[in-house]
Amino acid sequence: MRTNPPKPVALNDLLRQTTALHSELAAAMDRVLASGWYILGRECAAFESEFAAYCGVAHCISVANGTDALELALRALGIGPGDTVATVANAGGYSTTAIRAMGAEPLYIDIDPDTMNMSAADLAARLTPPVHAVIATHLYGRMADVPALLAVTGRAAVPLVEDCAQAHGAAIGGRKAGSWGALACFSFYPTKNLGALGDGGAITTRDGELARRVKALRQYGWSSKYRCAEYGRNSRMDEMQAAILRAKLPHLDGWNARRRDIASAYSAALAGQGMEGPRDFGESYVAHLYVIRSQERDRVRAALSSCGIATDIHYPVPDHLQEAARGAHGTTTLAAGAHLPVTEQAAGEILTLPCYAELLDDEISAVVGALQALPQEARVG
Ligand SMILES: Cc1ncc(COP(=O)(O)O)c(C=O)c1O
Repeated sequence: MRTNPPKPVALNDLLRQTTALHSELAAAMDRVLASGWYILGRECAAFESEFAAYCGVAHCISVANGTDALELALRALGIGPGDTVATVANAGGYSTTAIRAMGAEPLYIDIDPDTMNMSAADLAARLTPPVHAVIATHLYGRMADVPALLAVTGRAAVPLVEDCAQAHGAAIGGRKAGSWGALACFSFYPTKNLGALGDGGAITTRDGELARRVKALRQYGWSSKYRCAEYGRNSRMDEMQAAILRAKLPHLDGWNARRRDIASAYSAALAGQGMEGPRDFGESYVAHLYVIRSQERDRVRAALSSCGIATDIHYPVPDHLQEAARGAHGTTTLAAGAHLPVTEQAAGEILTLPCYAELLDDEISAVVGALQALPQEARVG
């Protein structure tokens, strides 16, 4: 007798959220169609003030995407060619892209093995002049230890930029991601906890002068229409994405709660399987990605795949080991010469499981069941 193949569990399915919110999204889009104004208009202004209030800051400036947000944040801080910016090498390369776009050089800091975020101890050891700024990513939806990082950057009088692209709504002591750094950067790429139906990004800050600079830099450097005090970029949000984000923002906390519940069910299933997963499901974790670690990662991945469960690796090659990090003619750049043992070990062990708010109960049970039934050779310890 042939058994049916298991029902596949995808890593994400964006159509589910769009379908569930169809009438709210359609109303938002109709509003924009009828307005006759399509870039940086009323919807953008309203989204900026609603998102600033949500993050607990005075200013939010919408931009075209999260990478531009990082680049404009660095520009607003005056980072330029030859400067050095400290960051991590395990967060997908977005901060490196922005640092390089400024003509600056990344100085990689190793990560804390428990949280996978920037290690405050390693930052303290490496933060010697001349480092001009630090970008700390709240990776996988887990907030970095910003109080500890700020203690280090504060002593050195170096500004800290938060990369909150994976951490919309996360908080420490009730204070949200996006309200800690001199500037903070968000992406609204469709798979994010708060995702647009296209590209989008934002910068939040408590500092009025930095907000003014970012606002000018996102639109050619204009201080007022057609008046250019310094050269900037064209990195604007369109009204459609702003209206869509306004419709979605009131749902964010509920979606984050559902993501945490899924993550906690998976972690309960990991007990005794020789794998590590997230352990803390409080306010500082919004489960953007649920990532386990296993020395038998490839076997675990194959076993889950045979149960129809999709997985991915975020991210397989640390920034300092990317081909692009090699200097011209084989020379060693500061980046390529980095010594990051914790980052490098993690890259060989991490595995991302499906975790998004619209995942169905029977799909969660399928993942839990597959984790509990892993074959002996996929277990360590
Ligand atoms: C941590 C992190 N930073 C920055 C970005 C860049 O955002 P975007 O793709 O909108 O440029 C992303 C996502 O793509 C991200 O995950």
